[in-house]
Amino acid sequence: MNKIKSIAVASLALTVGLMSCDSGELRRTPGHIYAPDMTYSRAYDAYTSNPNFEDGLTSRKPVAGTIARNNELPDHLVEGDTNAYKTFTTSLRFNEAELDEGRRLFNIYCGICHGNNLDGQGPLQTSGKFASMPANFKDAKYLHMSVGQMYAGIKYGKNMMGSYASQLDIKQRWMVIAYIKKVQSENGGDPYIFGATTAAAPAVAEAAPAKEEPKH
Ligand code: HEC
Repeated sequence: MNKIKSIAVASLALTVGLMSCDSGELRRTPGHIYAPDMTYSRAYDAYTSNPNFEDGLTSRKPVAGTIARNNELPDHLVEGDTNAYKTFTTSLRFNEAELDEGRRLFNIYCGICHGNNLDGQGPLQTSGKFASMPANFKDAKYLHMSVGQMYAGIKYGKNMMGSYASQLDIKQRWMVIAYIKKVQSENGGDPYIFGATTAAAPAVAEAAPAKEEPKH
C-alpha cells in the first residue's frame, strides 16, 4: 500500500514539475545569457547596417583601383566589342593541377548543358527541357573558336547561356578555357597552348623574421 502511495505522490510531483515548465505562453526571452559578449558580437556583423559609413553598409567593396592578392588584373573587355573578343587572350599558363581544376570547374558549371565530355549533350540538353542547343565543343564550328571569344561567352553569356562572371574569377575562366582547349586539341582542334613549360614558380615567400632563441 505504501509503495502505491509513494508512486502516486512521485508521479503527481513529476506532473506538477513538468507543467510548471510550460507557462502556457510563448517565451520571448532566451533567459540568462552565459557570455553576452560572445552572444552579441561587439563587431558589426557583415549584413547589419553600419552608421560609420555613408552608405550604411558594413560589407565594404575593395578600394577602387586595388587588386586583391593572387587576383588577376582586370581584363578591360567591353561587352559587345566583338572585334576585341576575337583577339583577346592571356599570358597565363597552367600546370597539371590547374588544368585539372579547370576540368572540375567545367563539370560543375558547364557540364549540365555542354556535357562532361564537351559534346553539347549535357543532362539538361538531353532532357529536352532546354530550348537551345549548347555549343558542342567537338564540332567543327567550335573547334577553332578563339580563346577570347570563349572568354567573352563565359563573362557575358550568350543568348540562352547566362553569364558566369560571378561564379568564376578571371583565372578560373581561363583554367576552364584551357581545359576546353586541351580536349579540343585532342579532337582535331588547334595545338594546346596553355601548358606551362616549366613548373609553376613557387609563390614568393613572405619575409618572416627568423625566430631566434633569446641569448643570455
Ligand atoms: C544553361 C546551359 C548552359 C550552361 C550551364 C553553360 N552554357 Fe555555354 N552555351 C549554352 C548555349 C545554349 C550556347 C549557345 C549560345 C548561342 O550561340 O546561341 C552556349 C555557348 C557557349 C560558348 C560559345 C559562345 C559563342 O560565342 O558562340 C562557349 C564558349 C560556352 N558556351 C562556354 C561555356 C562555359 C565555359 C560554361 C561554364 C562556365 C558554359 N558555357 C555553361 C548553354 C550553356
